Amino acid sequence: MSMSDAFKDMERDNKIPLFFLVFFFALIAWGVYYIVAYTPEISGWSQYDVLQKEVEAQEKAAAATVVNENPYEFDPKAIAEGKGIYAEHCSGCHGGDLKGEVGPDLTAHLTYGETDDVKYESIARGRPGGMPAFGDQLGRDRIWKVLSYVDSVREYKAKP
Ligand code: HEC
Repeated sequence: MSMSDAFKDMERDNKIPLFFLVFFFALIAWGVYYIVAYTPEISGWSQYDVLQKEVEAQEKAAAATVVNENPYEFDPKAIAEGKGIYAEHCSGCHGGDLKGEVGPDLTAHLTYGETDDVKYESIARGRPGGMPAFGDQLGRDRIWKVLSYVDSVREYKAKP
């Protein structure tokens, strides 16, 4: 038997295994699917749309957390800073002890509501009965800080 006959005999015994055929055609099918799915001219898919959807989802999540909750609640550094802001801008009307003079007692029940978002609104936009708007003057960050001070005093008072 010559050398090349020996190789032919080996070939005959080594048929292509079934799993390889399945894998081979699956790979081709996947390739075709991939090209169709990710070719904008065929499927309308675009990287830009995907990115835009991600950005929109993130913006939505960010907007949901913007004004609703005080990021500085119970933060001692912010409370200390807020105390200074209060002394400068608020104590003249609400009193050094927050118990009210021209403006109402801030340690008692609040007319416009006691959740973070409405307290923020009271300070940022003002209220018709003589509460000035501090939105422009203080900005978001300092409003939350002064509010964390006011709330720390309210909290203190709430405890027996
Ligand atoms: C010129 C006086 C004045 C100043 C300064 C002032 N306030 Fe007021 N504030 C008022 C008056 C008056 C009201 C009541 C408004 C109403 O009932 O419509 C009020 C209402 C409020 C309310 C809502 C109270 C409620 O019952 O719902 C909050 C909160 C508040 N002030 C916080 C502050 C903070 C914090 C500052 C400082 C950044 C401040 N105020 C500065 C006069 C003032």
